[in-house]
Amino acid sequence: MIIFEHIRCPLNRYTFRIKPVRTWVEKNCEGNVLNLFAGKTKLSVNETRNDLNPDMPADHHLDALDFLKAWQGPKFNTILLDPPYAYRKSMELYKGIICSPFRQLKDAAVSCLEPGGIVITFGYHSIVMGKVREFQAEKIALFSHGGAIHDTIATIERYLPASSTLDSHQNRER
Ligand SMILES: C[S@@+](CC[C@H](N)C(=O)[O-])C[C@H]1O[C@@H](n2cnc3c(N)ncnc32)[C@H](O)[C@@H]1O
Repeated sequence: MIIFEHIRCPLNRYTFRIKPVRTWVEKNCEGNVLNLFAGKTKLSVNETRNDLNPDMPADHHLDALDFLKAWQGPKFNTILLDPPYAYRKSMELYKGIICSPFRQLKDAAVSCLEPGGIVITFGYHSIVMGKVREFQAEKIALFSHGGAIHDTIATIERYLPASSTLDSHQNRER
């Protein structure tokens, strides 16, 4: 079952500046969080912040895909994806062609996430990581900005790889 939430709030290009959005994301983050497109707003969670723009308050200033490919630290429990319009658009325009940056980014994100962890994505899609990467959608929030402004869709998908289910099943059997 997917939990659905509907929240009315203004739109801001720095998404988490809007209090209801920030509150929602802070409430839903779990454990160690990778905030990959961190922007301006520091969250009240245990976050590792990355933003390409050196003027943003972040621990790392790398391209998101480069960050994921280079990350050698412990895997995260939550990965937050709130990329800019153009980054998301690259997938929409080219219908998910293999070389689209956003598709590559989603593939790379999996290797930085603990099994059982979650990916929270802000954008225009209700399914982002998808079953193909062994994710299950748990929650969808629709942020309605009113007037002619399109809504923002936030989705929470949990990484449930078959191999880890097998492991825990085997552990129970022992
Ligand atoms: C939609 S804003 C996200 C804002 C953030 N969630 C907030 O609420 O402040 C996108 C952010 O991604 C950063 N960004 C743009 N391209 C990037 C890239 N290729 N890799 C990492 N960060 C990038 C921008 O500098 C911007 O701060």
